[in-house]
Amino acid sequence: MIFESMDKLQRLQKILARAGIASRRAAEKLILAGRVSINGEVTRQLGAKADPTSAVILVDGRKVPPPAAPIVLALHKPAGYLTTCQDERARRTVMALVPTVPGLHPIGRLDYATGGLLLLTNDGELTLAITHPSYKISKAYLATVTGIPSTAALERLRTGIALADGLTAPAIVQMIRSSGNQAVIAITIWEGRNRQVRRMFEAIAHPVRQLVRVAIGPIALGNLRPGQWRNLIPHEVKLLRNPPSMRETLP
Ligand code: URA
Repeated sequence: MIFESMDKLQRLQKILARAGIASRRAAEKLILAGRVSINGEVTRQLGAKADPTSAVILVDGRKVPPPAAPIVLALHKPAGYLTTCQDERARRTVMALVPTVPGLHPIGRLDYATGGLLLLTNDGELTLAITHPSYKISKAYLATVTGIPSTAALERLRTGIALADGLTAPAIVQMIRSSGNQAVIAITIWEGRNRQVRRMFEAIAHPVRQLVRVAIGPIALGNLRPGQWRNLIPHEVKLLRNPPSMRETLP
């Protein structure tokens, strides 16, 4: 079914995924269920195409916004900000630190007390891809912990720690420095479980005092100061869309 000029036509499931409505597969289910219409006409065809800049596309009667030019930002999130678009208790969110762009939202999350690299985008499909459990990208942190973990404790972090939600996958762990009763440890993980790094260090009885994410895959925090942001360059966005597999990245 063709509704607009040939060159701007995109498959309906791609349009819905780009708008962050659903993954492509879930969008196919919406289409098959007859919940999607183009210019007033319900379509159940998975091959249906439309021009997302001009067609009126509705899902359950609600309009799918036309696509904005995709942007991806890297923000140095300071500790003390929530990683969310809105907070019902009106606490500070990361959105106060970035320009107002329709549809801009954080990719994944950092805890309130964690600082460091946070990516934001208005490209719902990129967010769905990166936050999908099958997407393996490294996340590197610098953790300042209480006490000085032994070599054996660091090895436990490397090989896998039994947490309440299961064994952690292999991690890269390196002691950076220690003094007095604290140590700074670099840890790289390929998972994104809730409070994972903090829980891993709690499990070895060295709780985290300060946590900063310094890289996500090939994107480094670099010289960004807390509260500063920058646009990713196209090459960095391309790397994010095609991450190396875990096997290629682990030592
Ligand atoms: N692990 C944590 O414990 N907290 C974060 O914010 C990110 C990873």
